[in-house]
Amino acid sequence: MAFTDMREFLDLLEREGQLKHSDVPLDAGLFNKDLQALMRYVHDDDNRNIAIVLNNLTNYNTPDVPMVFNPYGTRQRTAMTIGQRDPRKAKQYLSDILADQSRWHAPNVIDAKDAPCKDVIISGDDIDVTKQIPHVWFGKEGPAYITNGIGISKDPEDGSVNAGWYRTVLFGGASHPDGKTYPPDLAKNKMAVYAFWNPPMNHIGFHLNKAQRQGKPLEVAFACSCDPALHTASATGVPYGANEMAFAGGLRSAPMDVVACETVDLTAPATAEYILEGLLHFDHEETIGWHSNVAGYYDTAQTLPVMEVTCITHRKNPMWHATIEMVPPFDHNYIGMLPVEGEVLSDLQNKCPEVQDVVVTPNMMYIVQLNVDGADKPHTEFGKYIIHAVWGASGRWGRTAKVVVVVGPDVNPYDLNSVEWAIMTRVQPVSDTIMNRSGQAFVDDPSAPNIDLGFPIQSEQMGIDATIKIPERHTWYREVSNADPDDIARIADLMKDVLG
Ligand SMILES: Cc1cc2nc3c(=O)[nH]c(=O)nc-3n(C[C@H](O)[C@H](O)[C@H](O)COP(=O)(O)O)c2cc1C
Repeated sequence: MAFTDMREFLDLLEREGQLKHSDVPLDAGLFNKDLQALMRYVHDDDNRNIAIVLNNLTNYNTPDVPMVFNPYGTRQRTAMTIGQRDPRKAKQYLSDILADQSRWHAPNVIDAKDAPCKDVIISGDDIDVTKQIPHVWFGKEGPAYITNGIGISKDPEDGSVNAGWYRTVLFGGASHPDGKTYPPDLAKNKMAVYAFWNPPMNHIGFHLNKAQRQGKPLEVAFACSCDPALHTASATGVPYGANEMAFAGGLRSAPMDVVACETVDLTAPATAEYILEGLLHFDHEETIGWHSNVAGYYDTAQTLPVMEVTCITHRKNPMWHATIEMVPPFDHNYIGMLPVEGEVLSDLQNKCPEVQDVVVTPNMMYIVQLNVDGADKPHTEFGKYIIHAVWGASGRWGRTAKVVVVVGPDVNPYDLNSVEWAIMTRVQPVSDTIMNRSGQAFVDDPSAPNIDLGFPIQSEQMGIDATIKIPERHTWYREVSNADPDDIARIADLMKDVLG
């Protein structure tokens, strides 16, 4: 089942009782306390973790544009972005399609007159981002960030296309981290782009470096609130040179419609709510901050390259999705987990058929579940081999896994109590762990040493092999004492009048 656009996905959520509309006035302006608190409140209880269309934001520059809040906030909803229901099956599906490019579909270029994203076209002096693009603030963040944008660009040397889900920064009404004032032209037609991250680099960053070597700005287009399959595809570590729009075509089992941009030589999703086209300049940088990051801390100041907006196109009656990173869990956590898990699972299964599942927790601990344990492992120390395989996985994420836990098939990797039980009953802390001093830092980890650019590169890492150590330490293991699921179901039925 393929969605045409974000609207169809939201309609499905609404039909299934997972989306509601709200007219309650909530503040979206600088330093407001409403939206971060709402994110915490909905994520503190599964029963209220729904998507909400906020129709009555105050201190909001585009009151006619409803703001979609928390659309991706559960594993089930992120599975739905790629037409699945069961999160585990969704992950395996994403992983299998990622590994097999013959199942991808190249995007289909359609005529501009058929493209909803061209309903309104604004270019030249008419561009005023402060009026035409929604500005939404969360917590103590300095600028309003665009968090629903897929950045599309071409490798300036070989022309290969990349689409990545990258955050961008709006200057209108922004607070400067050093107390300075941004010049007004920045607010009108410029925005900063996270064209670096998680070293060595994100792919738009590679493109910008190559453009710099050629002495030219990089042509870019940011497509906002698209078919959710593209969002999932663009957050996945697709090999450099491969096009995430084609991968999205694979995930949705049909090509995505794209349309030529107005002012840059790129194509962008035809059903996106908004497209911002422009030139990303390597020789113009601005310092921005604060920014609430995925580890749950504020980054104080970051220096980012600036994009000059050359055209805005949008749909009639557009809508907007905005989100925040904060102490996990939160909306963006979930839409990030499925791609990261799928990326690492795909790589590990390619090497080791004994890998059954990879679960990344909201706090980014990596749990690898094997389909074998004890004497059935291919060799002694196999758990440790898997830890090294995570750190050496292709893509951007495995190498930044600060804590990796490897468990057997009887441990539920989604249940931290079950993982803790395996650690407490199957691990000798000196013999069954690996302490790695020379790992790569996760860029937002405040405990890693900071160098140069103000963000960490190097980090210590820990691997915990929580498999059963037969034959390496034991010849047999005690039988697990726990109830059989069929017996639990039988007793639940017998006791339903008492226990409900
Ligand atoms: C909501 C959201 C925001 C993200 N923001 C950024 C960002 O600003 N910079 C970045 O490098 N990655 C960001 N990511 C992660 C990337 O999308 C992901 O690593 C992706 O694989 C990068 O694509 P690339 O490998 O083609 O560069 C974000 C992910 C999500 C879900």
